[in-house]
Amino acid sequence: MWTCVKLFIVFIILTQKVQKSIGFFPQFAPFVEKLIKNKADYIVERRAYLREYDFIIVGSGPAGCVVANRLTENPNFNVLLIEAGTVETLVEQVPLFAPYEFLTRYNWGYLAERQPYSCLGLKDQQCGFPRGKALGGTSVINGMLYTRGFKEDFDEWVRLGNYNWDYYETVLPAFKKSEKARLKFYHKPEYHNTSGLLGVSHNPHQTPITKIFMDANKLMGLDEIDYNSDDNIGVAHLQANTLKGRRHSAYKAFIEPFLHRRNLHIMLNTRVTKVLIDRVTRVAYGVELLRKKRRQKFIARREVILSAGTFHSPQLLMLSGIGPREDLEKIGVEVIHDSPVGKEMYDHISFPGLMFTTNLTNPSAPMLEIKNLVKMMGNFLHGKGYATVPNGVESLAFIQTPTFNAPNERLPNIELILLTLVPHSDNGHAVRNSERMSDWLYDSVYRPLEGETTYSFLIVISLLHPKSVGYMKLRDRNIFSPPKFYSNFFKEPEDVESILEAIKYTFYLINTEPFKNINARLHNIPIPTCKHLNFGSDDYWRCAIRTWCVSLHHQTATCKMGSTRDAVVNSELKVYGVKKLRVIDTSIIPNSPSSHTNAASFMIGEVGADLIKKDWQRQRQTWYNYYH
Ligand SMILES: Cc1cc2nc3c(=O)[nH]c(=O)nc-3n(C[C@H](O)[C@H](O)[C@H](O)COP(=O)(O)OP(=O)(O)OC[C@H]3O[C@@H](n4cnc5c(N)ncnc54)[C@H](O)[C@@H]3O)c2cc1C
Ligand SMILES: *[C@@H]1O[C@H](CO)[C@@H](O)[C@H](O)[C@H]1NC(C)=O
Ligand SMILES: *[C@@H]1O[C@H](CO)[C@@H](O)[C@H](O)[C@H]1NC(C)=O
Repeated sequence: MWTCVKLFIVFIILTQKVQKSIGFFPQFAPFVEKLIKNKADYIVERRAYLREYDFIIVGSGPAGCVVANRLTENPNFNVLLIEAGTVETLVEQVPLFAPYEFLTRYNWGYLAERQPYSCLGLKDQQCGFPRGKALGGTSVINGMLYTRGFKEDFDEWVRLGNYNWDYYETVLPAFKKSEKARLKFYHKPEYHNTSGLLGVSHNPHQTPITKIFMDANKLMGLDEIDYNSDDNIGVAHLQANTLKGRRHSAYKAFIEPFLHRRNLHIMLNTRVTKVLIDRVTRVAYGVELLRKKRRQKFIARREVILSAGTFHSPQLLMLSGIGPREDLEKIGVEVIHDSPVGKEMYDHISFPGLMFTTNLTNPSAPMLEIKNLVKMMGNFLHGKGYATVPNGVESLAFIQTPTFNAPNERLPNIELILLTLVPHSDNGHAVRNSERMSDWLYDSVYRPLEGETTYSFLIVISLLHPKSVGYMKLRDRNIFSPPKFYSNFFKEPEDVESILEAIKYTFYLINTEPFKNINARLHNIPIPTCKHLNFGSDDYWRCAIRTWCVSLHHQTATCKMGSTRDAVVNSELKVYGVKKLRVIDTSIIPNSPSSHTNAASFMIGEVGADLIKKDWQRQRQTWYNYYH
């Protein structure tokens, strides 16, 4: 009952009317959170901390949570898990609310540097680079889409010298080890596990657009696939990290059920500022941190593990003296090891600019009308209805466009994402604010549709293997300064052309019978800054792509794994140049995978934990042999 009241209050607050009388929503968000803040922080932290631990894990994203869980299976290991954020609340668990999470304290809220090639229609022409700051990391705020990537993606890891990451031997078993599959539509059981910890579900609710989208894609020649198997090209119902209609974060899956373990200590609201490294022996022996405004040191007897994510693991390495010599010297950090940290950064840029309207009545539109909200929340509490749809995403299609120079004929270069949560669904809150859309763009293109009672949908085009590669570096030596991110999105014009080809595919798709039956039409108000170009011409779309584009937040490779000189960690995730220090998170992914990166972060955690266990087992045996 109390739950219901809380959710209701939150919804009321989200509505346009109340917002207008109180002011701007983002400023109001902290108040909403205080209102519903639970006692979880206290429960999670109730331990007397020690000075020394066997393992110190920095950051509790999916990878960090998995490692903490697997290492504390062994009662002889004690583990300190340190997290800068706090515990999620019920609001975080409503799958449809994912985009609202950008505006909360669970987001680090970084921005990429402004560049002339992309994000021109966003606020200050800067792409948003959000990141989770919570127990559970980004899995507490992300879109929950569960896509693992294909065998061909991981074959590339092996080709780069990571021989122990064979798909069938290591990677697939690790995916399966985590998974608690609840898949009711088409899937291949041999690629899934129903008895793991992490919920993977098909959406309990579908709008009618899903079936139409799938049928249309089949008419275009695609098969219905399980994209988390050996099928690569095709269309599929979304698989997501939800369980019974709620978000299943890394915290929910890997930490909450194990809080009784006495060898797992967790610190929240605590920022690690540095890895302690002995300058002579080059052994990492602990961390320095800031907690309740006090600087403290904790010692790791066996290893320090950085799982601070793709922005903060490189940040911590660099502040601890491991990074590009020239850059570190410029900002006054003493260099311990010259290493290409942050030199590469891949990401998936996407084009959300194709919106289609239909003549099909949408029972939950307009979304913020009180009666619709109340109904939606009532259904959510029973694990049903539109509020259970992760981020508003219902279906995915993986395709190859004609000019894609595929290293392998089975590798897709484009992902189409069917999104039924559109910018005007909630009068310009979720999608518009989370994507930093400029007011002039929203007001001219989407506002005219506010209050509409029929379905509209987006087909978001995401580029999986961009030619343009970004990089990051530190602004200065202050840990509280946001790093500088240079995305380089669309620096290579080829990337724009690939998206243009996918736009053409989408137009064929919309012209098939299933879409014609609901009178699906391209929303054709032009983007103001591209108006001078003929609407619908190739040049118009090129302009639109560079103007209205967003990152899907899949940054990788900032602590690249490999055996060549561009690598930061080796294939056992050990940092080159220092001992007893590993990086275990998405920053080690050495390429741009064909997938979103959340599934991979769990998998990397599983593999990383196994590598650690194996090492320390071997060590024990060596001592044993020595003494006996
Ligand atoms: C908005 C958004 C939506 C996304 N949607 C999807 C999706 O739908 N599907 C998908 O597959 N992927 C998605 N992703 C990507 C995916 O969620 C991430 O790649 C993945 O969760 C990263 O996991 P990780 O373990 O590498 O680290 P993270 O999740 O980044 O966790 C790192 C943790 O370390 C903590 N930390 C950092 N520095 C410090 C420090 N100095 N001291 C203490 N703690 C620290 C952080 O607070 C954070 O909690 C999305 C990402 C974003 C940002
Ligand atoms: C399924 O998950 C359980 C629990 O993690 C694990 O013990 C089992 O080995 C997994 N099965 C497969 C096939 O990976
Ligand atoms: C929607 O449009 C299609 C195609 O024009 C038409 O056949 C159908 O009757 C329309 N339905 C409604 C509810 O207007």
